[in-house]
Amino acid sequence: MKIKTIWFLTFLVFMSFWKIALLSDAEISCNFKQSCILPCSFQSYGEPILHWTQLESSELRVHSYYDNQDQLGPQNENFRGRTSLFQDQISRGNASLLLREVQLQDQGRYSCYISTIKGHEESIIRLSVDAPVSDIRIHQDGNRITCSSEGIYPQPELTWSTEPPSNTTLQNRTTVHQTEEKLYDISSSLTGPDGSDRIYSCTIRTRRNQRRAILRQKSVIVSSRQTSLSCSASNGSASKLLWRFNHSQVIVSRSSQSRATVTEEWKLHVKSVSESGGLSLQDLSPQQGGIYICELSNEEETLVTSTFLKVEDRGGTKRHPGVSMVVVAAAAVILCVVLIRRSRNQKGLQLYEEATR
Ligand SMILES: *[C@@H]1O[C@H](CO)[C@@H](O)[C@H](O)[C@H]1NC(C)=O
Ligand SMILES: *[C@@H]1O[C@H](CO)[C@@H](O)[C@H](O)[C@H]1NC(C)=O
Ligand SMILES: *[C@@H]1O[C@H](CO)[C@@H](O)[C@H](O)[C@H]1NC(C)=O
Ligand SMILES: *[C@@H]1O[C@H](CO)[C@@H](O)[C@H](O)[C@H]1NC(C)=O
Ligand SMILES: *[C@@H]1O[C@H](CO)[C@@H](O)[C@H](O)[C@H]1NC(C)=O
Repeated sequence: MKIKTIWFLTFLVFMSFWKIALLSDAEISCNFKQSCILPCSFQSYGEPILHWTQLESSELRVHSYYDNQDQLGPQNENFRGRTSLFQDQISRGNASLLLREVQLQDQGRYSCYISTIKGHEESIIRLSVDAPVSDIRIHQDGNRITCSSEGIYPQPELTWSTEPPSNTTLQNRTTVHQTEEKLYDISSSLTGPDGSDRIYSCTIRTRRNQRRAILRQKSVIVSSRQTSLSCSASNGSASKLLWRFNHSQVIVSRSSQSRATVTEEWKLHVKSVSESGGLSLQDLSPQQGGIYICELSNEEETLVTSTFLKVEDRGGTKRHPGVSMVVVAAAAVILCVVLIRRSRNQKGLQLYEEATR
């Protein structure tokens, strides 16, 4: 009994090792459209024969090398012009493959087969391809807030949250669309309650990374000629800053290292841009009233602050008291004229009434 048990346990342990050995293909992940190295090394001995193949339903020739040169005659057309070996490294036992412009159909298992006069060896590599979430946009239109991003793989997930938290589930609608290149575009919109000063945040997540977009809305009313608008303060160092007016016009842009550039139309009104992204405006008139949008982004987040600015018309009364005097005088004159004409009319009516009697 006991011996049998020991044998059985030994068998189990052996099986599990074997299984691990079977499953332990090297895993590598590459980014869509970028270059990628599929690693492979061998015991160098003399002139090797080398075959890289993709193990799909059928084996596809990826890259071959023998007689000291590349042999690309039987190469599958999916890989044409995208593969190379590190030729100077082959004699040192490095048979790694450089794959350029990685496509989604490159995903799968690859075999690196090497034969020398000492024998042959094969290793298996599993390649997965990711298109991480890059740009994420959030914007508001009326009381509808939309968050979107394009060109993601594998299929992303999108979640909304608010600050302070909402005690009702938010009415949201998410649509996912797969492009011809098999990448995913995602968009979600949510109807926020009117006039709330909630902060909305949207997170788009995929296997490789996630990005968050945060929208906060503010309203500023000024009656002076200058004001400062702040951008969301974030802890992390922001790499990109962009201020826009009424969604379309760019006011200021700044990338990680460079200085802020103010567009020609706004040179007159922009006094300065602070380190944290705040915008100091000058020479304001009601024409500069509208929506000021600040976008601060870094690796993980895009913070959008939307400020509705209303510049009140001061009617010039404070700066030119003379004007108001003229207005008052004019009003007095008009009043007098009206009164005189009315009393004349009344007189006329009296005369008429007397005459007809
Ligand atoms: C093979 O050479 C390439 C290019 O120099 C290098 O990046 C890679 O790490 C090497 N691989 C191995 C297994 O030595
Ligand atoms: C949500 O909370 C607010 C304030 O706490 C309350 O007035 C409102 O009735 C709540 N709504 C629901 C659906 O519970
Ligand atoms: C979005 O809507 C779904 C149902 O349509 C709901 O389950 C989910 O909780 C909503 N998300 C938020 C953040 O309210
Ligand atoms: C700022 O940092 C604190 C802790 O250091 C963290 O809890 C908070 O989430 C951060 N906020 C942002 C916007 O990154
Ligand atoms: C900007 O938008 C506001 C509000 O939507 C509008 O009243 C204003 O006319 C716009 N200004 C310009 C210059 O387009």
